[in-house]
Amino acid sequence: MTRSDRFLLAGVMGWPVMHSRSPALHGYLLKQQNLKGAYLPLAIKPERLAAALRALPALGFSGCNLTIPHKEAAMGIVDRVDDAARAIGAISCVVVEDDETLTGKNNDHFGFIEGIVEALPDWRADAGPIVVVGAGGGARGVVYGLIKRGAGEIRLVNRTGERAETLKQGIGGPITVVPWDARHEALAGAAMLVNTTSQGMVGNPPLDIDLAHLPADALVSDIIYIPQETPLLAAARQRGNRTVNGLGMLLHQARPAWRSWFGIDPEITAELRAEIEATF
Ligand SMILES: NC(=O)c1ccc[n+]([C@@H]2O[C@H](COP(=O)([O-])OP(=O)(O)OC[C@H]3O[C@@H](n4cnc5c(N)ncnc54)[C@H](OP(=O)(O)O)[C@@H]3O)[C@@H](O)[C@H]2O)c1
Repeated sequence: MTRSDRFLLAGVMGWPVMHSRSPALHGYLLKQQNLKGAYLPLAIKPERLAAALRALPALGFSGCNLTIPHKEAAMGIVDRVDDAARAIGAISCVVVEDDETLTGKNNDHFGFIEGIVEALPDWRADAGPIVVVGAGGGARGVVYGLIKRGAGEIRLVNRTGERAETLKQGIGGPITVVPWDARHEALAGAAMLVNTTSQGMVGNPPLDIDLAHLPADALVSDIIYIPQETPLLAAARQRGNRTVNGLGMLLHQARPAWRSWFGIDPEITAELRAEIEATF
């Protein structure tokens, strides 16, 4: 059956899931590509994840995205994982193969890098030291992406130091773990600062970091996208640093997912961005 005769199916599994912007994003892309199909929010309890994933081929799904709390648990359920998912330790996208087996991929790192490059086409990962704050699931994708892109020095700072050490052991590469108390001074000489913590997200206090040591030409990025300008990004903009928020990371991870599911590389347009921004 060719793509145009099929009703394309994909979705996002999470618990809860109704906050996810993925149905709006992928629904827009289906319309943009003039395809018949649906991308559904799938509320799956953790104890039903294996059954839900195994049902995808029978239901005719091309695959699905995974969100909290399923990204790590799915590693033990799918039939194979790609190199990025193995290094990151989490799956963001499941692909139903032609033989109905399941492949787990992680596209967060691609989304993060492409979001930066879209905003600043001449950005380079090897321009100087990069300070990454946080060592959770988001940080793992960010650090993996930066290293793949050629980062020469990553200063990793996390409130819980052991978690930063675990990330360093799992991913490898030029990572130096910096104690939480030294985070302000760690910004000296940095070319980039990335916040991957939940601090600054709507409902949470701002990230506690003093930008005084950060060079004026450094890029400041936050993977949070609600609000679009976190207190960190506002403070950085006010002192003259360039800033990029997390919306590009969300939007661009859809491209490799579509390539795997439907064989299409969709365009992330300004109209799509505005459509998703209107849901905030
Ligand atoms: N743009 C995107 O596509 C995208 C993708 C993924 C995530 N995100 C966003 O990234 C953020 C983190 O998500 P995640 O999945 O990485 O979460 P996570 O795995 O739960 O990690 C949370 C991180 O925040 C830190 N943190 C929490 N409370 C803190 C506090 N009071 N002070 C300092 N650090 C604190 C944690 O430090 P400890 O280890 O010390 O607890 C950890 O490093 C969320 O806002 C999420 O929406 C965005």
